[in-house]
Formats: sequence, structure tokens, C-alpha cells
Amino acid sequence: MENILVTGGAGFIGCNFVRYILKNEPDVQVTVYDKLTYAGRLENLANLKESYGRRYHFIQGDICDAAKVEETVTASDIDTIINFAAETHVDRSILDPDAFVKTDVYGTYVLLEAARKFGNLRFHQISTDEVYGHIEGQRRSVEGDGLDPRSPYSASKASAELFVNAYNITYGLPVTISRGANNIGPYQYPEKVVPLFITNALASMQLPVYGDGQQMRDYQYVTDHCAAIHLILRRGRIGEAYNVGTGSEMTNLAMVEILLDELGRPRSLIQHVEDRLGHDRRYSLDVAKIMALGWEPDHTPEEAIRATARWYRENSWWWQPIRDGEFQDYYQTVYGDRKALDLPR
Ligand code: NAD
Ligand code: DAU
Repeated sequence: MENILVTGGAGFIGCNFVRYILKNEPDVQVTVYDKLTYAGRLENLANLKESYGRRYHFIQGDICDAAKVEETVTASDIDTIINFAAETHVDRSILDPDAFVKTDVYGTYVLLEAARKFGNLRFHQISTDEVYGHIEGQRRSVEGDGLDPRSPYSASKASAELFVNAYNITYGLPVTISRGANNIGPYQYPEKVVPLFITNALASMQLPVYGDGQQMRDYQYVTDHCAAIHLILRRGRIGEAYNVGTGSEMTNLAMVEILLDELGRPRSLIQHVEDRLGHDRRYSLDVAKIMALGWEPDHTPEEAIRATARWYRENSWWWQPIRDGEFQDYYQTVYGDRKALDLPR
């Protein structure tokens, strides 16, 4: 049995990945290591113990806690670390970058040290297309491009990548990196735009579109991203980074219109509001390298948005308690005093 440590496995992409790998690799045991921040939820991992028994373990812990990380790596006899754990929301990084530097940068360093100390374990870092920064014109980012992060979140993710590379070059740690575009699908905390807008629309609340809504994003379905991570783990070249996305982006306004249509809600719910500080207008990935490994997405961005809207419509048991809790304070902080814009449509 191979023992894989999945940090951040109680979060959105992590929990989807844990389900994916347990289902597709019968000879793998998974230990989820997660601090359970506001974004990490045990209900995301419900039924895994019943379904997979001893192949699945959960440990609550912080990736910044070197002693606990080392204890976990030795006690679970870990061969491979996949690092999903991070602070992930750009708006929260603008409000307060502190936790981003601690978890995303220092926490990654702690995991790399543990991987080095216990026999140069295989290490995969989950990164983001945001490390490339805003992309002008028709250009697409290729993996050899320089990193040009522009938000505290993306700066922390880019810093983590630099450490991952340094451990490969200096200590020979067998690392790979994936740079994913925007994921959507089941179990995404409703602060991110797609679940936020779906759950607002279901409550007949306004959808706060930042600025003119012409920003471009590549909305990929989370299980497609999970399949790509799995492939990189098995067939990726050590020391390399891989872009992961559909390779096809759309404006935020187009995304909003698709989800409103799917839910049968009116366009009048769209409300333009004051823009995000330092907002990147466009991300755009060249995905030829991951496709050459034998991957392609099962969903177009439009299919991904529609499937996500249906999941949230059918699973209010999951998101309603979140929206009724701490989320309300967060919502008030970010949107309470935000100026509405009167833009021609
Ligand atoms: P998420 O916010 O839903 O989950 C993050 C998880 O990390 C949570 O379970 C949280 O409890 C855990 N965590 C946070 N700090 C921790 C710490 N100090 N120690 C241990 N656990 C901690 O995030 P997500 O959207 O699932 O993103 C997962 C990874 O994928 C992140 O590294 C993110 O940067 C990257 N990523 C996300 C997207 C996206 O669109 N969501 C796209 C590309 C890359
Ligand atoms: O690109 C990958 C990244 O995607 C990940 O690395 C991040 O972890 C993830 O949070 C996501 O970042 P974004 O900033 O792109 O996602 P978000 O859902 O916050 O916003 C998507 C777009 O929607 C962006 O252009 C901002 C806009 N937006 C967002 C919110 C929350 C709005 O117009 N209104 C909103 O209320």
C-alpha cells in the first residue's frame, strides 16, 4: 500500500481529490491532514470511513506545526505528500494577508522539510494560474513563463512554488507542481464567486459583480482538475510544473448569465459593485503540456457552471448552515458598504 498525505483534504478541491483517488486507486491509503479553518469541513468527508475503512484516516493539524507534521508522516508511514492546504480566497487576502503568508508560504516550507527529512518523499504542490498575474491580449501562459503575482494570495502561492523548486534543485526532492484555473463544483465554500452567486440567486439576493464584469476566467469542473493532479502524480516529470484548465475562458458576466439561466432566475439580480483592489483582468492557460500527458477535461466551462448550479440547488443541507453562520459577518465586511455602480448594460 502507498500512503499518501493529503493536506487541506477537508477543503473544496482536497475532499473531491480524496474521493477521486480512493475510488480509482485501490492500493492507496489516504491520510487527510487539515486544520479545519472556516473552509475545512468534516461533512465534506462524510461516509469515507464507512466506504473505505482503514484506507482513510483523518488528522486535525496545522501544516505550520512541524512537530505534528513530522509525527503524522512517521506514524502513517507516508510515501507521498500532496499539498492542498492553503488560505485561498483573494478577497480575504486583501483584508488581511497574515494567514496567507503563514500557511501558504511557511506551511509549505514545513511540509518540504518533513519530506526531505524522512527520505525525500514524493511531493506535489497544488498551485494556481494566479501566479502568472494578469495576461494581456490574446496571449496564454505557458509553464516556462515568469511568475508575476499581484495579490497577497497569489504572491504567497508563487513564493511557495519557489521553495518547492528550491527543494528539488538543492536537495533532489522529487516534486511536481500543478497550476489550476478556477475550480467549481460540489463543496466549494460559498465565498467564491460561482457558489456565492448561485446561493444568492436561490435566495433572490443581488449578485455583486465586481466592476464591469468583463474579467476573464477559465471555470473548470473540480473532478477534471482532480484527474489531472492524479495523472501528474503518476506520469508527470519530476521538477516540472503543469497548467490545468479547459483552455477556454469567459467573462464573469457570461458566467453569471449561464447560472441564472440554469436556475431560471432573472438578469435583474445582477448588480455591478465597486471593483476588487488590484483585480487581475484575465488569466489564460496554455494546457498543451498536461494534454500531452493524456488528460482532457470532461466538462466545458458552461457544462461545469450548469452542473454546479444544479448541485447547489439540490444540496442546501450543505451550504445553508454555512451561510447562516460566520459567513454573515464576512459578507457584511466585504459587501455591506460596497458602492453599487450604475453601468450601462
Ligand atoms: P479551500 O479554501 O476550500 O480549502 C483549503 C483547506 O486547507 C481547508 O480544508 C482548510 O481547513 C485547510 N487549511 C488551511 N490552512 C491550513 C493549515 N494551516 N494547516 C492545515 N490545513 C489548512 O481551498 P480549495 O479551493 O480547495 O483550494 C485547495 C488548493 O488548491 C489551494 O492550495 C489553492 O491555492 C489551490 N487552487 C484552488 C483553486 C480554486 O479555484 N479553488 C484553483 C487553483 C488552485
Ligand atoms: O484562478 C484560480 C484561483 O481561482 C484560485 O487560485 C483561488 O484560490 C480561487 O479563489 C479563485 O480565485 P478568483 O479570485 O479568480 O476567484 P473568485 O471566485 O473570488 O472570483 C472569480 C471572479 O469573480 C474574479 O474575477 C472576481 C469576480 N467576483 C468575485 C466575487 C467573490 C465578483 O465579480 N464578485 C464577487 O462577489
